[in-house]
Amino acid sequence: MQEQNVRICKGPGCKAWSSDQIARELLEIGEALDLEQLKVCRVPCMKVCGGGASFRVNAKSAIIKLKEVDDVLNVLGIREGAVTCQA
Ligand code: FES
Repeated sequence: MQEQNVRICKGPGCKAWSSDQIARELLEIGEALDLEQLKVCRVPCMKVCGGGASFRVNAKSAIIKLKEVDDVLNVLGIREGAVTCQA
């Protein structure tokens, strides 16, 4: 996996779409899979509020709207089944 700089909006509109939870889960998945190339950064409002949490991979890519963390995994090409829950 190439280095991926993931930016997730922390503005109020995106928090309403669970951007905090999505960012937290993405960090946990990155740690569980030992993905050192995955950098998660919270950023202020990206000025495209509504319809999901705003998310961007690397600086020049398009902004994507997320509704759950699985959307991020699909965008980054991380297989959903690769993560197991250890309680
Ligand atoms: S609050 Fe996230 S784009 Fe505006």
